[in-house]
Amino acid sequence: MENKLKELKEEALKQIEASEALDKLNEIRVAYLGKKGELTALLKGMKDLSSEERPKFGQLVNDARKVIEEKLEESKNRLASVIREEQLKTEVIDVTLPAKKSNVGHRHPNMIALEEVERIFIGMGYEVVEGPEIEYDYYNFEALNIPANHPAKDEQDTFYINDKILLRTQTSPVQVREMEKGKLPIRMIAPGRVFRSDEVDATHSPSFHQIEGLVIDKNITFADLKGTLAEFAKELFGPQTKVKFRPHHFPFTEPSAEVDVTCFKCGGKGCRMCKGSGWIEILGCGMVHPHVLEMSKIDPKEYTGFAFGVGLERIALLKYEIDDMRLLYENDIRFLKQF
Ligand code: DAH
Repeated sequence: MENKLKELKEEALKQIEASEALDKLNEIRVAYLGKKGELTALLKGMKDLSSEERPKFGQLVNDARKVIEEKLEESKNRLASVIREEQLKTEVIDVTLPAKKSNVGHRHPNMIALEEVERIFIGMGYEVVEGPEIEYDYYNFEALNIPANHPAKDEQDTFYINDKILLRTQTSPVQVREMEKGKLPIRMIAPGRVFRSDEVDATHSPSFHQIEGLVIDKNITFADLKGTLAEFAKELFGPQTKVKFRPHHFPFTEPSAEVDVTCFKCGGKGCRMCKGSGWIEILGCGMVHPHVLEMSKIDPKEYTGFAFGVGLERIALLKYEIDDMRLLYENDIRFLKQF
């Protein structure tokens, strides 16, 4: 067996020496060292040896293996440098050719608008928080004063996961999550994605974004709400902007209002942008309903607060005078680059 091993080793080394391609080296590796290779076969034959001879022979096989491996490595390096040498001699690189342009993306108008809104509220001392997009029915409806059979539930065509879990239809549940933490006062905005089972058209999408706002403290009044939103509108749409509060109903606020701003295009005279009225609706708001405070373990006799909800796409569409919401979701770089 020892002779056989010696022969095999020499044969392998000879073959390695003679080979002129990397593939060939690999073939040799497989033929000698592979699972079904010659050397492995020799190891399997060891069972016929006596127990004294066995470890000695095992050692010899391992030594041979090492020598072959080293030779393979050496030849591989030698071949690789020959190939490279050859390449350098024949390859021509024209350094005067124009480079490939790398495609840099562009910030989305939604993102630009959101950062603007965040900047304004952070400047007024607000914190930016987030809540989950997959939400409990309790947070999305129940704890916001919208019980199981309330008609307001029908207005928001909801994607249910089961009867307790859904895709949130509004960012308002983040209000409840913040109030439940029990840390007062609260001054927060909560931007995020919301979902409604709506058909896609120029003003609707099954998935869009809202920015929720909530302030809870002692002695917060409707005057604070008005002042805050008037300031927000001025910062966002320009210093001449005026706000108008129209009475409205939301189950989680009382009193509630919808807010219009003077059209920033015509200054209130009436134009195509504001459909001739001079006003543009931008958000819903109100004083947090005492029952909503109670459900989140806040004493309405001690604390009051206001809340508001803005559609982010609506802000982006208005600010950049985009007339079709679908453009915001196509991510066409030629469109995005304009903002
Ligand atoms: N969540 C409301 C909606 O999606 C918007 C809203 C209205 C939020 C009034 C508020 C609010 O916080 O006070 O229609």
